[in-house]
Amino acid sequence: MGVRQHARQTADTELFNVVEMLQRAETPLYWVGAITTASLVLWLLYHILTGFRIWVLGNGDLLSPKLGKWAVVTGATDGIGKSYAEELARRGFSVMLISRSQEKLDDVARSLESLYNVETKTVAIDFGQNDIYSKIETALAEIEIGILVNNVGVSYPYPEFFLHIPDLSLFIDNMINVNITSVCHMTRLVLPRMEARAKGVILNISSASGMYPVPLLTVYSATKVFVDFFSRGLQAEYKSKGIIIQSVLPFFVATKMTKIRKPTLDKPLPDRYVASELTTVGLQDQTNGYFPHAVMGWVTTVLAPIRVVIYFAMRMNKAQRSGYLRRRKLR
Ligand SMILES: NC(=O)c1ccc[n+]([C@@H]2O[C@H](COP(=O)([O-])OP(=O)(O)OC[C@H]3O[C@@H](n4cnc5c(N)ncnc54)[C@H](OP(=O)(O)O)[C@@H]3O)[C@@H](O)[C@H]2O)c1
Repeated sequence: MGVRQHARQTADTELFNVVEMLQRAETPLYWVGAITTASLVLWLLYHILTGFRIWVLGNGDLLSPKLGKWAVVTGATDGIGKSYAEELARRGFSVMLISRSQEKLDDVARSLESLYNVETKTVAIDFGQNDIYSKIETALAEIEIGILVNNVGVSYPYPEFFLHIPDLSLFIDNMINVNITSVCHMTRLVLPRMEARAKGVILNISSASGMYPVPLLTVYSATKVFVDFFSRGLQAEYKSKGIIIQSVLPFFVATKMTKIRKPTLDKPLPDRYVASELTTVGLQDQTNGYFPHAVMGWVTTVLAPIRVVIYFAMRMNKAQRSGYLRRRKLR
């Protein structure tokens, strides 16, 4: 046999081996493809149906005074808290409003009473202080609470490096008291009677800033992680006892806090945000509360690597900081 003929025979044998191998792999490869495609279709279908249930059908009349006559809202005189107070009054709840300024509390209370014909009570306290909870406990003692909205929160006056924050020590104490301590103590005061009646809802307003570290808003972002973990842990403890505890993580909403004056689709007015958020209660333990925010939440946590999110947050906040300091001529 010549060398050329031998080479051709070897090549034929190898080709035959490859074809045979491919033929043997054909059936398993077919099933891998079919199962992958079926899983993707099922995953997509599940998310479309779940999304439809949450964002289109909603939770019906779950949030009604059948849960308990009163709604208690902290930070209720502006922004998101005021919108919760209004929307819950519209649904028939009597509302206890808690904020610092008695004058603003009286204004909101009068407006709720005349618009929705509901009872109101007000408590003027500063959640930055620690010795306020016996006063709140006394005010809560007489009422049957169906829903508590732990909304009060403070952020930075402008994005800043940790060590450059003006009055840093006071700033830290105030932010922890308002954003964290208030949530724990309000829950401590309200939950026992909800547990005894085996019904009630607690909404804890965290923030999308609690979904990943946000540089130059670091303390705020960290307090909101606490709120999120506290809510989800408690929900696991109390779900079987009939209590709904939800962690709410909004992106930007046009309020005094964000200084956004012109609402857009992704930065809605608080009443639009709250109306949407309330449809998710009982359907999601953790929610961005508003469909465009849910999409933003998905993109920033599932699609984008966390390093990229932190990089862009740093860039955005540095630009905001420079703008603020330029305007204030502090640089
Ligand atoms: N706006 C957003 O884009 C956004 C995004 C994510 C999360 N959040 C969260 O949503 C919540 C509400 O934010 P917002 O934008 O609606 O805020 P906002 O417009 O600044 O309103 C804050 C409310 O809290 C009250 N408040 C502030 N400090 C207080 C204190 N020390 N003691 C008692 N009451 C106090 C204010 O009333 P007085 O000044 O009269 O006391 C006001 O009623 C916060 O927890 C915030 O972190 C907001």
